[in-house]
Amino acid sequence: MANAALGVNEQTPRQIVAELDKYIVGQAEAKKSVAIALRNRWRSRQLTGPMQDEVIPKNILMIGSTGVGKTEIARRLAKLVKAPFVKVEATKFTEVGYVGRDVETIVRDLAEAAVRMVRQQRMDAVQEKAAALAEERILDVFVPQPKKTQNPLGRLFGGGDDEAETTEQEPKKYQAGRDWVKKRLTKGELEKELIEVEVEESSRPMIGMFSGSSLENMGDNIQDMLGNMMPKRHRKRKVTVAEARKIFTQQEAEKLIDMDAVSEEACQVAERCGIVFLDEIDKVAVHDGTGGADVSREGVQRDILPIVEGTTVMTKYGPVKTDHVLFIAAGAFHLAKPSDLIPELQGRFPIRVELQSLRKEDFEKILTEPQNALLKQYRALLETEGVELEFRPEAISRIAQLACDVNDQSEDIGARRLHTLLEKLLEDVSFDAPDMEEKHVVVDEAYVDTKLADIVVNRDLTQYIL
Ligand SMILES: Nc1ncnc2c1ncn2[C@@H]1O[C@H](COP(=O)(O)OP(=O)(O)OP(=O)(O)O)[C@@H](O)[C@H]1O
Ligand SMILES: [Mg+2]
Repeated sequence: MANAALGVNEQTPRQIVAELDKYIVGQAEAKKSVAIALRNRWRSRQLTGPMQDEVIPKNILMIGSTGVGKTEIARRLAKLVKAPFVKVEATKFTEVGYVGRDVETIVRDLAEAAVRMVRQQRMDAVQEKAAALAEERILDVFVPQPKKTQNPLGRLFGGGDDEAETTEQEPKKYQAGRDWVKKRLTKGELEKELIEVEVEESSRPMIGMFSGSSLENMGDNIQDMLGNMMPKRHRKRKVTVAEARKIFTQQEAEKLIDMDAVSEEACQVAERCGIVFLDEIDKVAVHDGTGGADVSREGVQRDILPIVEGTTVMTKYGPVKTDHVLFIAAGAFHLAKPSDLIPELQGRFPIRVELQSLRKEDFEKILTEPQNALLKQYRALLETEGVELEFRPEAISRIAQLACDVNDQSEDIGARRLHTLLEKLLEDVSFDAPDMEEKHVVVDEAYVDTKLADIVVNRDLTQYIL
């Protein structure tokens, strides 16, 4: 393989957990098993010979009630891993109109992700070369190549001295012109100059026609076919030199890479390193004693099974074997239990981790600590209006406590409760912000109690249930 590092994270489990810690509070167990699974990827890459094939990843099943961070872990993982990553909701396959939607699309999407990765990596590798070629093309626009002697006959018959002179002069003048423009380009003097460039029209008129149906992939293939058959449409655009440089560099880089090789490597990377996150898996489990839709749910499980077990799916980039793909499934399992999944599928998820229900201390941290913490978000939003929000520690503690209470007394919707509470808490500031005279708002315990009085006093919580 061209690049051993592609698709494998070098971080140690500790480093991976530390990375996840930046966004997700608690749930140490889930983070740990995910980190181990990633590290095992790296380990198996170090193996040689048949052993490498023998080691297949241990799939993970994450169980935890709603709003405790399952999907959030997946989202953060997607950003963190250097592997092709696909996140899909199992319920997608039972939706009206999706019935019979080919679960193989999961693998096709994985291949697609891998192609994007490999392609990007190769584009990066030729970046310098492409940039140099792009510079030449910009020079061509300013100082076009001199035309070859227009009249070959004139030359044949030795049509006078002046003609001979121009043919000798031209290259010199041309070179001098280019050197001059080049100098100015390097100095950045021409960046804002407008030039005309030719761009390819990326028209895919049929897009959307098949989307959402099982014809989707067929549609894709037809589009590819037609795309290749029809001549590419070109369009002239006036852009600045700076933009032209970007466009040309992109075009040149594309010319420099070999898409067949990309496809081939991508399929390998997808097979070896691919990770599929199957969210909402509990929604396709069948809790006994009900009919109707359950048939299709169980059908979905049966459809998913071969892919998790290991099968070969034909993608437009080539065949992809799923034996070594890592699957992480997650579900709240409120109604159904993991044991309501068909046994074969259960068996494919040997690692079970439970996510903990969130408590007051967790809520306090969720409000303040993650890099995108809710309070930070609100503060940043209101700052755009020139309003400075200050949250006192007692206020934060109070909000966390309220979230906890409401979750206990009505439905436990985890950290989502914080979203509803904060929205209510800051409703007035959000509305008044542009007209406010006093631009400094202090949110203390009293403020929280006033704004959330309904909840504090009558505890009629029904209206805060999502
Ligand atoms: N442990 C946590 N740390 C930080 N934020 C969290 C945590 N748990 C949940 N959140 C926040 O709460 C919201 C809902 O979380 P998430 O989507 O992960 O829930 P979920 O576990 O997937 O629930 P569901 O079963 O309903 O899909 C997100 O905005 C997320 O950022
Ligand atoms: Mg979720």
